[in-house]
Amino acid sequence: MKFFIDTANLKEINEARTLGLLDGVTTNPSLISKEPVFNQKEIYQHYISICEYLKNNENLSAEVISTNYTNMIQEGEELSSLHSKIIVKIPMTENGIKAIKYLSEKKIKTNCTLVFSVGQALIAAKVGANYVSPFLGRLDDISHNGLNLIKDIKNIYENYHFETKILAASIRHPLHIIECSKIGIHAVTSPLNVIYSLLNHPLTENGLEKFMKDFQKKIK
Ligand code: E4P
Repeated sequence: MKFFIDTANLKEINEARTLGLLDGVTTNPSLISKEPVFNQKEIYQHYISICEYLKNNENLSAEVISTNYTNMIQEGEELSSLHSKIIVKIPMTENGIKAIKYLSEKKIKTNCTLVFSVGQALIAAKVGANYVSPFLGRLDDISHNGLNLIKDIKNIYENYHFETKILAASIRHPLHIIECSKIGIHAVTSPLNVIYSLLNHPLTENGLEKFMKDFQKKIK
């Protein structure tokens, strides 16, 4: 399973790389707004910097801000022309679906975001999205089972041999990642802190502390 990091912050991206756990990056308008960028030119330059940091088989999902069809496709084409590693992230709306169809016919790669139902995921695949991003955490927040949605999408995509890859998003805790790996989806995109919580276990910490104490008691 691929580990994407859900951030627009270069320091965090570098930290994920240092851990050996970086397969790609996803951003969204909320995440990019946390960075020191104040206009479109600076945002685009920031995306280029992230892409230049990434290795060949890694990519960056960069989201359009427009919501109407004409502007979405124009913005999608602009984003895609910034760097070959950019996947254009498009929200799951009627205009978004039309834009994904248009961009996929132009061989521009897309990630359909803000997906909360099987029907939405089915439509995203039908129009040729390269990735679909179901939001686990936000579904769990309203007492819906996000993981069941992921299972259903995988099942449907397998039934029809869709090539759209499932990229689980809105990851809130380590179990989300573990359960996604059991289901066998292509990738998760996670904040860095959740990746760190996967590493930790109190018995590992206690065990290491005891090993060190025992060793130091005897060996001078
Ligand atoms: C995914 O592509 C989104 O950027 C992200 O995972 C949203 O997560 P949130 O629900 O924690 O904001």
